[in-house]
Amino acid sequence: MKISVARTDVTAFETPLLAVMVLEGANDLVGPAARLDERLGGQMSRLIQRGDFRGKLCETAMVYPPAGAIGAERVLLVGAGKAAELDTERLRRAAATAVKQAARLRLANLASTLHHAELATSPIAAAEAGRAVAEGAVLGAYVFDELKSKKEEDNGEAPVHVQAFTVLEESADKIPAIEEGARVGATLARGENLARTLGNLPGNVVTPEYLAREAERIAGDYGMKVTILGPAELEKEGMHALLAVSRGSDAEPRLIVLEHRKGPPDGKPLVLLGKGLTFDAGGISIKPAAGMEEMKFDMCGGAAVLGAMQAIGELDLPANVVGVVPSSENLLSGSSMKPGDILRSHLGKTIEVVNTDAEGRLILADALSYLRRFEPAAVVDAATLTGACVIALGHHASGAMGNDEELLKEVEAAGERVGQRVWRLPMFEEYREQIKSDYADLKNSGGRPAGTITAAWFLREFVGDFPWVHLDIAGTAYGDGKLSYQVKGATGAPTRLFVEWVRARTP
Ligand code: BES
Ligand code: MN
Ligand code: ZN
Repeated sequence: MKISVARTDVTAFETPLLAVMVLEGANDLVGPAARLDERLGGQMSRLIQRGDFRGKLCETAMVYPPAGAIGAERVLLVGAGKAAELDTERLRRAAATAVKQAARLRLANLASTLHHAELATSPIAAAEAGRAVAEGAVLGAYVFDELKSKKEEDNGEAPVHVQAFTVLEESADKIPAIEEGARVGATLARGENLARTLGNLPGNVVTPEYLAREAERIAGDYGMKVTILGPAELEKEGMHALLAVSRGSDAEPRLIVLEHRKGPPDGKPLVLLGKGLTFDAGGISIKPAAGMEEMKFDMCGGAAVLGAMQAIGELDLPANVVGVVPSSENLLSGSSMKPGDILRSHLGKTIEVVNTDAEGRLILADALSYLRRFEPAAVVDAATLTGACVIALGHHASGAMGNDEELLKEVEAAGERVGQRVWRLPMFEEYREQIKSDYADLKNSGGRPAGTITAAWFLREFVGDFPWVHLDIAGTAYGDGKLSYQVKGATGAPTRLFVEWVRARTP
C-alpha cells in the first residue's frame, strides 16, 4: 500500500472515500470535519445531534455528499473515542477501521484527515500522529491470501487490496513532520506485515531453510552481512541442543544471523533474538491433535526479528544491530531426542530433556551462548515459549522477564508506545530450583507451576554478562484478529516493539 501526504483543501480533494475523525461527546464538529459539514449542509452534525453517531472508538457512519458539494464521493466518520483519552494506539485503530471499510466497499484508495489529533485535549505531535495513522493503514490493509487459488475478491463480497492512502493536511508547516512520521510508520508496518506473512505461511512452506533464504534476501536488499549455519557448521560449533531438537525431522536446522552495522565502528551491537521453530509437534512428548496446526506459528519470534531487521535496514538506522534466529522443526521419528536424554549445549552446560515439547528453550539456549561473540550492548529475545504465559496474561500482553531493570523499563516503554504491551513477571531466585536436575546441570522443564518464569530462568543460564530481556509472546504472536489493524492469524508482534527499542537507543 502506498502512503502519501498531500497539502490540499480537504473539501476539494477528489477521492472515493474521505475518512474524518470524530471525538466522542463533542457536540460541535471542529477542524476539517467542521468545514466538510458546512459544505454538506450539516449532514454530518445531524448524525451526531440525533445521537445516531457517538464517536465511540472505531464506530463508523457514511455520509454521501450531494453531487458537486465536495471533492470526495463519500465521507466516512470514524469515532476516535474521548478527547482526553486519544493516543497513538487509538489513531492506529481508527486509521485501520477506515481502510477496512474501504476494502469492504472494494475501493482501491482513500484519503484521511484522521491525524488531526490536535483536536484532542491530549494533543499528539504531528510526526507521531502521521506515524500512527500510517501504521494503522498499512497494518489494516494486510490480507493473507497467497495460498487461495480463487482470490476472495473474485466472489464479489470479500475485501480487496487497498492500494493507496493519502493523508490530507492544509497547513504547510506541518507537512514535513507528517511526511517523516508516515514514512517511519509505513516502514515499520511493512516489516510487521512481513512477519505476519512468514507466520501465516504453513510449516510445509516456511521451513528453516525458507527463513534463511528470507534473511539472505533482506541482507541483499539493505547491505547487511548474513551468516547461515547448517547441520555441518552447527556440529562444528557444538550446538547440540539445537541439533537434538531437529533430529526428529527431515528438515535441516539453521542458525540465521543478520548484521546491520551502521553505527559507530567500535560500537557494541543491540541483539534481537527470535525463536524460529517452524512447526512444533512436541516431539516424543507429543502435543494433542486439537489445535496442533497452530504450531506453525511457533516461529513468530524469529519472524518478528526478520521483520524488524527489514525495517531497520529500510530506515537505514545509524545503529549496530544483530538479528539471530535459531530455526528447526520439532517432530517425531526414530531419531528424535527422547525424554531422559542428556544433551551437551554449546555453552558446555548439560541438559536433561524431561519433556521434548520444551524445545524452544533448547534452541534459544544455544543461540544465546553463540551470540556472546558479538559482545552485545543488550539482548532482547521474543519466543512463543510457554502455554503458561497465555494462561497468565491472555492475548493482551507479552510476558517480560530479564536480568536488568533499566532494559526492562526500556522494553516496557517501547511496547507501550507502539501498542505492543508487555507485562513483567518476577524472576525470584526461588523459581530457579525447579529446573535443577538430578542427572545433569539443568533440566528443560520445571513443571507446571510458574512455567513461564522457569522457562526464563532456563534461558538465563545461557545469558552472558549483558543486559537481557526475554519476551514470551505465546499469547500475542497470533490470534483471531479482534483489533481493527489485525486479521486472524499472525499479528507480527513484536516487530514494531523491536524497532522502536532500537530507535530509542539510536542517537
Ligand atoms: N511452542 C510451545 C508453547 C506454546 C503453547 C506457544 C501454546 C503458543 C501456544 C512450546 O514449545 C511448548 O510446547 N511449551 C511447553 C513447555 C512445557 C512442556 C514445559 C508448554 O507450554 O506446554
Ligand atoms: Mn513445544
Ligand atoms: Zn514450541
